[in-house]
Parts: sequence; C-alpha cells; structure tokens
Amino acid sequence: MIEVVAGPEPAEGSGDALVVPVFAGVTWGPGAEWAADSLGDWVVGYLEAQDFKGKKGQTAVLPGGDGLAYGRVVFVGLGDEVDAEGLRRAAGVAGAATRRYRKIVTTLHLVEVDESEELVTFGFTLGQYRFDKYLSDPKASKTEQLSLAGAVDIDDGVARGRVLAEAVSLARDLVNEPAGAKPPVELAAIAERIANEQGFDIRVYDEAEIEAEGFGGLRGVSLGATNPPRMVVLRYAPEGAARTVTFVGKGIVFDSGGLSLKTAKGMETMKTDMSGAAAVFGAMQAIATLGLAVNVVGITPLTENMTGGSAQRPGDVLRARNGKTIEVINTDAEGRLVLADGLALAAEEEPDLIVDIATLTGACAVALGPKIGGVFAGDDDVAATVIAAAKRSGEQMWQLPLEADYRSYIDSDIADMKNFSSQRYGGAITAALLLAEFVGDVPWAHLDIAGPARASSAEHYVSKGGTGFGVRTLVEIAAAYAE
Ligand code: BES
Ligand code: MN
Ligand code: ZN
Repeated sequence: MIEVVAGPEPAEGSGDALVVPVFAGVTWGPGAEWAADSLGDWVVGYLEAQDFKGKKGQTAVLPGGDGLAYGRVVFVGLGDEVDAEGLRRAAGVAGAATRRYRKIVTTLHLVEVDESEELVTFGFTLGQYRFDKYLSDPKASKTEQLSLAGAVDIDDGVARGRVLAEAVSLARDLVNEPAGAKPPVELAAIAERIANEQGFDIRVYDEAEIEAEGFGGLRGVSLGATNPPRMVVLRYAPEGAARTVTFVGKGIVFDSGGLSLKTAKGMETMKTDMSGAAAVFGAMQAIATLGLAVNVVGITPLTENMTGGSAQRPGDVLRARNGKTIEVINTDAEGRLVLADGLALAAEEEPDLIVDIATLTGACAVALGPKIGGVFAGDDDVAATVIAAAKRSGEQMWQLPLEADYRSYIDSDIADMKNFSSQRYGGAITAALLLAEFVGDVPWAHLDIAGPARASSAEHYVSKGGTGFGVRTLVEIAAAYAE
C-alpha cells in the first residue's frame, strides 16, 4: 500500500516524479506554474507539440534535467473545470501513469475541491490497481510514497481515502479471481479472515444447515454444483450504535445458467456474478475500519450455478426461508432465488434498512448501460437516501420503478410466484418485484449492478475487470445511518 504523506513546497522538494494538474488550453493548475516558471515558456510549446492540451484524462511527461529537482514532471489534464469526481479521476490517471516511479510528489490536492486530500488519495491508489497475481512477470508498481506538496499535515481524509481504496481493491480482487479458485467454502474463509481482523462476529451455514434452516432458494441453485454452498452472516456491532442496516449480496461464484444454459459468450464473464457479495465484504471492512457508529449485518448466499446430474430442473418448486414458494421456470434466473433466502433472513431481525446488491439482470445493463446501477425501493424516501449516498460516493445510480402492475407477470400456476417473467421486456423490474416478496415490512432498496460491476476497459481509477462498484455507496449508506 502506498504511503501518503505531507510534502514540502513543490519548489523545495524532490522525487522521481512531480505530478501537476493543468486545465484545458494548457492553463496551469496549482503548482504547475512552478514547474513551468522554473523551466521557461518553452514548456507550453513542448506540451503542445505532444498534443497535450490539458483535456480530461490527458497526460504528458517532461523528462528531468538541468534545473529540475524531479526525475520528471507528469502533467495531468483536468479539462475546463473540475469537481469531486473529476479530481478522483485525474488522480486515477496520475496513479496509472506513475507506477514505475518510487517517490512521487503532487499538487493535485491543491485544486479547489472539498475533501481534495481524500479524493486524491483514493483515486491515485486505485489508479495503480492491477490484478496481476497470475502473471509470471507482474510488473508490480514501484510506487512507495505519494507526497501532497505544501500540505502542513495529513488530514483524516487521507485515512478515509486509503480505507475506501483498500476496500474497493479487496472487492476487485475477489471478483477478478477465477471461479475455480474461489468456491463458496473459500469465500466464506475469506469472510472469516476479514471478521477476525476487524473483530466482528461471523456465522457460516454449511450445506446441511442451509437445508435444515429452510434456505430452499440457495439450496435449489446449489444442487447442480459439486462445490457445496455457504450462507455467510457477518455482524459489525460497535458499542452504543442505535440503528441497524443489513446488506445482502448476491454471491454466485460462477453462473453457467444451470440447465437453462447460457451461451459460451454469455458465460465468459460469469465469474463476476458474486460482485454483490464482494461489495458487501469490502464495505464491511471499510465500515469497521472507519469505526462507523451503526450496526451492520452482511448476508451473502454463496454458490455456483452449475449443470450437474442433481441440478434443479425448469418446473421445480422451491420453498424459501419465509415459507413462500417459487416455481423455477428458468434456472438462469438464479440470483433472485438465493437473494430470496438472504432477504428473508435479513427481515427476521427487523433492521432499520435492508439493501441488497446484485449482478441480477442483463435487462438492467441494457436499460442503464455499463456505468450506472439501478435502484429499486418500496419507498421513494429510501430510494432518495440511497441515491444521495451514491452521489456522495462518486458512484452513479438511477432509480427504476417497482411497478406493481407488472407483478402478474411472475404469477405461477402452481406456486406463489415464478422466477421468470411471462413478458419479454421489463426484466429488471420483474426481478425486483420478486425480491420484494421477501423483505416483509422492512424498509428496503435493491441495487442491480449487472452493468457497472465489471468494466470492459480501464479508465482513470477504474481497472479492466471487476470494478468494486457498490462498496462506496454501501459505506455512505451506513454512514447516513450512523449517529
Ligand atoms: N448473472 C446474470 C445477470 C447478468 C447478465 C449479469 C449479464 C451481468 C451481465 C443473471 O443470473 C441472469 O442470468 N439473468 C438472466 C435472467 C433471465 C433468465 C430472466 C438475464 O438477465 O438474462
Ligand atoms: Mn443467471
Ligand atoms: Zn447470475
């Protein structure tokens, strides 16, 4: 982990690289004027010759030499103006561009945005993230230290930025791990390690307990897999906390579709179908490290969705934890089956809020694209709370309707509901309507992250593959319920 420290004024410092911000039209940002002044106006010409115009996401490197205290200056474009997310992104670009330098000094945090030290720490750290554990030649980052030039001392924001970046990195690592290397038993062991490190309680239900405790949805999905399922319940209960928030994360370690098999293309990325569970683990680690004064319960049903000889069949009927029955029309609509049990378990303790998070439907990704998560809630105030939390965190979420008129699309002839809509369109909504059957009267929101859980290319602080999407929103929701 990179150490972030308060540094000297840029003119008095030294290091392998000085990272400075530049606005559009090569208008110097704070600290950049120093690099330019000491080197002369030709710097502008040099940058322009490299087509560097200070646009968002652009970088240019000026090699060191006579009269320069740094090995090189890295110029980072901010565009016309910069807000909180713009600064996170610029810092992410800077992090990605400086992995080969050991000591880095920056003036990015001097840009006039609130909480700039937190934003720079967060973006820079995640911009350096790579999932390289399986590479023979991993080209690990050499960066050891980031100095915030001119900062007198490091404020709490730096600590917060680091905690959030570490939690998002944890979620990314879990999502990027190949499915064969993260069976439910292994993920439960990782949850246990987090719980032990953070000093919170954990209960892991094994396959026998899953059956005995009535988790019929999770059991049904698990039947086609050789690796046994687990239901993990984490509890963070700091002294004096009054309110309780329960997070439920979809943990499908691999989604083949089951007997309603996906296409080869369709399952290429399905190791990421446990991104909801990964977000819950990451968020709980961050919440505990930050010491937020709120009880948080994290529930993650973990299983593979496979096609073994004992696999559940289209037409089978499952009984979930709350006694309701579900006819399985399509075994590829498995997320809602495991979440049914997770939500019913969550509702039993009557928390102040339940939030589930899941890579639930391709339909949601069709509706909102690859960068925006869908928010469903029984109550518009709850939706507004979640969307405000997402906005503060820098994650994009948009409310979709929980339209009661569509409930009839999941009416079953022989059970309380079926898991597959009789209508071609509106699949994200009908999935959410099924989930609503399992939360009782508890205030609840559902986050469908099928789009943003995974990125098809790297960009600023987002790396290709698992994004860790949702971690930050869950932390902000917990913060909103803390005293
Ligand atoms: N895990 C998928 C949803 C998904 C698809 C996430 C693409 C990320 C990218 C989910 O289990 C699924 O298969 N959903 C089906 C539901 C359908 C059978 C009702 C879908 O979206 O096609
Ligand atoms: Mn599926
Ligand atoms: Zn799935």
